[in-house]
Amino acid sequence: MAPKILTFAGSTRHGAFSGQLAAAALHELAELGAEAELLSLADYDLPIYNGDLETEAGVPEAAVALNARLGAADGIFVVTPEYNAGVPPLLKNAIDWASRARGPRDPFKGPVWAIGASSPGAMGGYRAAMMLRQVLALGLGALVLGGQVSIGGAGQAFGEDGRLKDERLARLLRGVLADLVAEAGRRAAARA
Ligand SMILES: Cc1cc2nc3c(=O)[nH]c(=O)nc-3n(C[C@H](O)[C@H](O)[C@H](O)COP(=O)(O)O)c2cc1C
Repeated sequence: MAPKILTFAGSTRHGAFSGQLAAAALHELAELGAEAELLSLADYDLPIYNGDLETEAGVPEAAVALNARLGAADGIFVVTPEYNAGVPPLLKNAIDWASRARGPRDPFKGPVWAIGASSPGAMGGYRAAMMLRQVLALGLGALVLGGQVSIGGAGQAFGEDGRLKDERLARLLRGVLADLVAEAGRRAAARA
C-alpha cells in the first residue's frame, strides 16, 4: 500500500515560496509512489492561541480537524518560511493548536516528519528550519528526518513547471522525500 504523505506550507500568501516548495514536493512524491496531498493552512481558521479561549470554549473545531488530518498521514513534509530568524506565527500557532486537540492518532508521534524551508534571502530559511526541528522533535516528540531542504533565492528557484530549476537542489529535495516515503512506508506497513 502506498504511504500517505501530506505536504504543507507555513504561509497562505498568494504565490508563497513555501507553498511553491510544498507543491513541488507533490510532483516528486507522486513519482516516488506515494499517495501525496497538499494541505493548506487557509482551510483551518484558528485564532491566536490563548489559554482562556481553550478554557472557555474548548479546542476549536478547526484544530480538531487539523489534528485528525495530520494524524492520518504516514509522513509529512512541512515547509517553513522565515520571519525574523524563526518560524512564522501562522505555522507555530497551527502546530500549537493541533497539539492541544485529541484525535484518533497523535499527529506528531504517528507520522514521520521532514522539514523544508524557503526564503528570498541567501540562507533559505535555514534558521526557521532549525527552530521548527526543535518544536517538532523536542517539543512534540516527533521523529524528524535528519535531511532537510533550504531554498534560498526562492523568487528565482522555481520553473514554469513548478519544479526546482537547480538540479542540485532538485536532487536534494528528491533524496529527502525518498527517505520520507521509505520511513512512512514502514509506518504504514506496521499499521496495516
Ligand atoms: C516579519 C517578517 C520577517 C522576516 N524575516 C526574515 C528573515 O529573518 N529571514 C529571511 O530570509 N526572510 C525574512 N522575511 C522575508 C520572508 O522570507 C518573505 O516575506 C517570504 O516571501 C515569506 O514566505 P512565503 O513566500 O512563503 O510567504 C521576513 C518577512 C517578514 C514579513
